[in-house]
Amino acid sequence: TTTYKIAVIAGDGIGPEVIDQGIKVLHKVAELDGSFQFDFTHFPWGCEYYAETGHMMAEDGIEQLKQFDAIYLGAVGFPGVPDHISLWDLLLIIRKSFDQYVNIRPVKLLKGAHCPLANVNREDVDMLFIRENTEGEYSGAGDWLYKGQENEVVLQNAVFSRKGTERIIRYAFETAKKQGRSLTSISKANALNYSMVFWDQVFEEVSAEYPEVETASYLVDAAAMLMITDPKRFEVVVTSNLFGDILTDIGAALAGGIGLAAGANVNPEREFPSMFEPVHGSAPDIAGKGIGNPLASVWSASQMLDYLGHDNYGKLVIDAIEDLLMENTTLTPDMKGTASTSEVGDRLVRIITETMPTHV
Ligand code: NAD
Ligand code: IPM
Ligand code: MN
Repeated sequence: TTTYKIAVIAGDGIGPEVIDQGIKVLHKVAELDGSFQFDFTHFPWGCEYYAETGHMMAEDGIEQLKQFDAIYLGAVGFPGVPDHISLWDLLLIIRKSFDQYVNIRPVKLLKGAHCPLANVNREDVDMLFIRENTEGEYSGAGDWLYKGQENEVVLQNAVFSRKGTERIIRYAFETAKKQGRSLTSISKANALNYSMVFWDQVFEEVSAEYPEVETASYLVDAAAMLMITDPKRFEVVVTSNLFGDILTDIGAALAGGIGLAAGANVNPEREFPSMFEPVHGSAPDIAGKGIGNPLASVWSASQMLDYLGHDNYGKLVIDAIEDLLMENTTLTPDMKGTASTSEVGDRLVRIITETMPTHV
């Protein structure tokens, strides 16, 4: 049997509650298959760890994580620790250190999920966001000058390297080509007269290598509007780090809510582990109540199965989520249900157990 070594950083707030459900699902899939198994190692890193140690993770944390096949992360950030510290010293540093430059976020309206817009066909909301994930507006570079003085100035630098821009755009073209779908680039060259002019230029250049891929290009403000008024225009989408962050929350709302939005932080060269996590945060307003929606975490577990080469089981898990949504009996309060986080997890495990034979 193959053993996958998975590092678990459940993190803060609802992170641990939702991640437990994904772990249940992964164990069940492996158990039913029998040819592979998961070995989860839990790291207690996050805001409580920070309160105890003054660090968000062990000082050699990145080194420790290197040996794993993948990382499964819940959420990071909680009131009491400044967000820029908690996020930079744990989540963002992992994305950067492991060169997880592709953030893959499906915006797909599953069967049984509810789009808040009227007159939208299910097929109209079926996008795949490819978000740049290691540089751009999230370079982390900047300066804070003359603190507290009248001439105080703060700089936050966006960095778009040739290498970083080309590789994300090329990855998006490869994905669109493989899927036989169009590719839309989202930028903002009218105002961002260096970064986005460069982005658009690179998009044009790489586009010339993929004559078979139909392309479109929008300004981010218009794209935000069109995602609501005409979502079906968007198939594969490539965009910068910050625009991708914001647009995928719009996407989450379109596709049934933030409790259902998943993401994979991928290092395509597989030089370092990739990381799978829901799009949402630690949800401090509902943390500890056991009612966080685990479906986003479970969807990211399905992305992990795809990544590990078990696409058939990745699909099985998505099918199970769809079955659960269509049953409409075991949903958390954000989906107008009354079930707890673990009841949703248990129900998914049941559905998987019952439907497994038809998938093998
Ligand atoms: P959030 O996603 O945590 O919560 C926004 C709203 O959505 C809240 O009302 C919350 O209850 C709800 N929500 C989120 N996930 C849910 C789920 N699974 N089920 C039901 N409801 C859910 O965003 P926020 O409040 O802006 O941020 C809270 C903290 O999380 C901050 O520290 C922020 O920096 C951090 N954060 C972390 C990540 C991450 O770790 N990847 C992502 C986003 C935000
Ligand atoms: C996300 C989150 C993070 C991001 C934050 C918590 C730094 O919002 O994964 O979408 O902006 O990338
Ligand atoms: Mn976000």
